[in-house]
Amino acid sequence: MLTGKLAALRESALAGIGAAASPEDLERVRVDVLGRKGALAQVSKDMGKIPPSERAAAGQLLNAVKLALEEALEAKQRGYAEAELRARLDAEWIDLTLPAPGPRPGSLHLITQLREEIEDLFVSMGFAVLDGPEVESEYYNFDALNIPADHPARDAQDTFWMTSGHLLRTHTSPVQVRGMERLGPPLRMIAPGRVFRNESIDASHEHTFYQLEGMMVDREISVAHLLYFMKTLLREIFHREATVRLRPGFFPFVEPGFELDIHCLICDGRGCAVCKQSGWVELMPCGLVHPNVLRYGGIDPEQWGGFAFGLGLTRLAMMRYGIDDIRQFQSGDLRFLRQF
Ligand code: PHE
Repeated sequence: MLTGKLAALRESALAGIGAAASPEDLERVRVDVLGRKGALAQVSKDMGKIPPSERAAAGQLLNAVKLALEEALEAKQRGYAEAELRARLDAEWIDLTLPAPGPRPGSLHLITQLREEIEDLFVSMGFAVLDGPEVESEYYNFDALNIPADHPARDAQDTFWMTSGHLLRTHTSPVQVRGMERLGPPLRMIAPGRVFRNESIDASHEHTFYQLEGMMVDREISVAHLLYFMKTLLREIFHREATVRLRPGFFPFVEPGFELDIHCLICDGRGCAVCKQSGWVELMPCGLVHPNVLRYGGIDPEQWGGFAFGLGLTRLAMMRYGIDDIRQFQSGDLRFLRQF
């Protein structure tokens, strides 16, 4: 009697477990059969009513059925757990072989890029690239460039003086003299670098900016040589023929001295804010090397002549990219720097 009941219970419970369509269904079956008030608990209560002689066998059967049902439940639960894990693994899949995004690579500052471009051009025309100290002596920055101590041209270059009597070079021209000493005539050299002036800062003035000095010393150098190299430089940089003009300009280390202007490339000479409506932009002071300066460099002005120019690298970059505020260059602002 009890045996038959147990067998039937086992079959129906196994069927229920098999049919359970979700973990919730399965839990319901478990409570119905194995729960504290479930079907098996009911049967075990009836045990007391059967004759003692049959009790041991019935108890064993009860345990066997219980065990079988628990196993079936667990197996089904494990199935659900595995399916859930598999679904998660599918959904949260990560491809570890993909390259990581990583930090953004840096790049060269636009002044550096421009400097390298101009260096390449001049090297291709036989010029050496020289370097000079940023902390300079009064001799190289002024005296040897034909600017004696009482000369008003010193005032025009607001100088940062060190307590040692040295100074922060106000231009790259001291490298002219160092270059002549080092190379001797004939020579072709450029000297790019950082220069400093004690200026109050605004959109067009900085205390720190970049120049690129150039010098050529040879027999019978004339203004035509100077113009040829300047026009070649501008063509290379702006990728078109630049219209230039020479105005007289005074620098104690050149004679004659000029200001080389170019037709404003922003407005094509029509007049705009950058050229202050004049159509022309002052780009490059230049001239023929003063005989005194050749002498300071150890070169005989009777035998040799030269031209020199001082290209404003920062100014050139502003022209080329239409940058209207010089303070951007030293700002360290990545939003600005990443555009180049
Ligand atoms: N050194 C001058 C300046 O910074 C520019 C210059 C260079 C002029 C070479 C003539 C020749 O103002």
